Amino acid sequence: MGSAVKPALDVPRIDKGLDDIYVKETSICYVDGQRGRLLYRGFDIQDLAQHSTFEETIFILIHGRLPTRQEFAHARSILAEARAITPDVVRLLRCMPSDAPPIDVLRTAVSYISNFDSERDDPTRAANMRKAQRLIAKVPTIIAAHHRIRNGKRIVPPDPSLGGAEDFLRMVTGRKPDPLSARIMDVALILHADHSMNASAFAAIVSASTLADLYSAIVAAIATLKGPLHGGANEAALRTMLAIAKPEAAEQYVLDTLRNRGRIFGFGHRVYRTYDPRALILREYARQLSELRGQEDLFRISEIMQETTVRELKAKQIYPNVDFYSGLVYHLLGLPMDLFTPVFAVSRVSGWTAHVIEYWDDNRLVRPLDYYVGPTDAAYVPLEERP
Ligand SMILES: CC(C)(COP(=O)(O)OP(=O)(O)OC[C@H]1O[C@@H](n2cnc3c(N)ncnc32)[C@H](O)[C@@H]1OP(=O)(O)O)[C@@H](O)C(=O)NCCC(=O)NCCS
Repeated sequence: MGSAVKPALDVPRIDKGLDDIYVKETSICYVDGQRGRLLYRGFDIQDLAQHSTFEETIFILIHGRLPTRQEFAHARSILAEARAITPDVVRLLRCMPSDAPPIDVLRTAVSYISNFDSERDDPTRAANMRKAQRLIAKVPTIIAAHHRIRNGKRIVPPDPSLGGAEDFLRMVTGRKPDPLSARIMDVALILHADHSMNASAFAAIVSASTLADLYSAIVAAIATLKGPLHGGANEAALRTMLAIAKPEAAEQYVLDTLRNRGRIFGFGHRVYRTYDPRALILREYARQLSELRGQEDLFRISEIMQETTVRELKAKQIYPNVDFYSGLVYHLLGLPMDLFTPVFAVSRVSGWTAHVIEYWDDNRLVRPLDYYVGPTDAAYVPLEERP
């Protein structure tokens, strides 16, 4: 074996994880971690959660401004009409192994549908906007159809007269949701639509920077969202609450976990040093839903966990993040745990497409460096001379 390269005197600084590295200017999303504010195109998430809809939020993210009433009606009907998927896609979904993770099925299906989009390789901004709308519209239908198939149930086709969030719940469960559940789903989609340059958005940008097509970039983003360090913490938070089972056990669980230097899932964040504003909004909805579903104990467990964790970790500025409540909300909406990450994708595909379109306005191939520390004089031995 050869010897390792001797580190040069001027060893470069290695930014593994790219913490603190800015890769582009953006006007899409701003996260103020000190004050606990999240803005899309300058609009506060609190205002959007209170007054807007997921369809309008998509318009805001992609176009960078509020739509006029006419533009909104037009964009909404385009999204509603594009929700349908073709029999080819349904056939693909039926071919998937029954235990395939839904997020993997989504990744495969998005890759597949690109082959049927006649504009796939049209690189113009206008064509990319249209593709973005089609992608955003079809992702929920794919997830819902696959969920029905794997449970041996009849696929529920989309109903273009309904809002996207309401229709998604209907396509998954087979029932039209009550108005509160439909609104909560809509708000959850608004809250997850973007969160600046995270791992999945960056994966989309890396793919897009090679001038691959929009579908390829979104496939890369879905693949990246899959990991538990990105899309999966809400499931872990809910599992903890279900395992605690009784409100009386919640405080002791937190104290024991912290004493053993464990982590409480759904708490802490790289950027927020205060309450994640999305968590505050979802918390109130979790409370309302838990009353509606007669599951007040589960919400009480979350409250005690929050009180105890915030009190014990005040000095470290650890507060609940969006995942602490999103899993609870999805559970109360009747969604199974392995759909939590796909639901994240239903929303985030709007942010991903906005970032890719913005990046292409001033594209530069992403091509970082790595610092070689391996051997430089390894002697090759022909295969027949090796033991
Ligand atoms: C999200 C997360 C990875 C951010 O980590 P980070 O910014 O790198 O912060 P660190 O891991 O350096 O943590 C700083 C300190 O707070 C503690 N801490 C952070 N999050 C904690 C949590 N959820 N539970 C208990 N302690 C926590 C750490 O133990 C560390 O303490 P120390 O300084 O005594 O070692 C981290 O908070 C975490 O693991 N949270 C749980 C998983 C989760 O909810 N992920 C979803 C994020 S949206």
